[in-house]
Amino acid sequence: MSAKILSGKEVAATLREGIAAAASACTAKGTVPGLGVVLVGDDPASRSYVSAKEKACTDCGIYSQEIHLPADAARDDILAAVEGLNENRDIHGILVQLPLPDSSIEREVITTIRPEKDVDGFHPVNVGRMVLGLPAFLPCTPHGVLHLIRHTGVPLAGAEVVIIGRSQIVGQPLAILLSRKWEMGNATVTLCHTRTRDLTAHTRRADIVVAAAGRPGTLTGDMIRDGAVVIDVGVNRIPDASRKSGFRLVGDADFDSCAEKAAWITPVPGGVGPMTITMLLHNVVQAAGGVVVSDR
Ligand code: GUN
Repeated sequence: MSAKILSGKEVAATLREGIAAAASACTAKGTVPGLGVVLVGDDPASRSYVSAKEKACTDCGIYSQEIHLPADAARDDILAAVEGLNENRDIHGILVQLPLPDSSIEREVITTIRPEKDVDGFHPVNVGRMVLGLPAFLPCTPHGVLHLIRHTGVPLAGAEVVIIGRSQIVGQPLAILLSRKWEMGNATVTLCHTRTRDLTAHTRRADIVVAAAGRPGTLTGDMIRDGAVVIDVGVNRIPDASRKSGFRLVGDADFDSCAEKAAWITPVPGGVGPMTITMLLHNVVQAAGGVVVSDR
């Protein structure tokens, strides 16, 4: 293996020091930053993400409150939970864990969150502001990926970045942020997806490849050039009888073959995941009026 490990755990730990300091300053002024979480159903992965977010809040001095609804909760009950958090003065940020058991109501639920409490950055107002380059809550995973790339020291300006996966949560916003004229952008971005004709032709010329397709084995070593940066956004559960849990986590990139050629590669777990949570904490503190120093 020649690649250096791009540890999200380590980068996140440094960022969280600044976030905890900002949360503490907020608290000293009389406002404890607060996150309201809505979890619908008992999907184990969603349960695990929500628990990790709540623990991270506690560690950073952020108050969190969870509303857990059954998988068959009525649309009106989910909307009422969000509206309650909208009105709650102790809550500055709201997160509805996705996917919802009934995905057809996701858009309506997200749009019910007050934009000034939308710490996921999923509300159309925040998406629009982000696209226009106006101040907005940035979506957490793309924002975390930007910080990871910055940590490598590889200049983004003029870099060829290939993103695999056009999701509304990761691929699309990341393409916008990376191509924006700002200190974390100025890259030449190619957004690849399931209809891309020759994926390897794109990934082989990339300085930075972001794998965010949600499918293991999407990126293999033969698809990248020597010295590339590989950011693996994938979190896939693979059955593994040797583990107590019965599964293990793998990314979208084949770690071993990519690590042989890449200059930097993120591990799964411990790569993008901790960064997503960190940028959520950042947004909650910002929503509470806190100023996070050295976050950009
Ligand atoms: N599901 C997968 N990623 C996310 C995220 O960043 N926020 C929320 N709310 N749900 C998710």
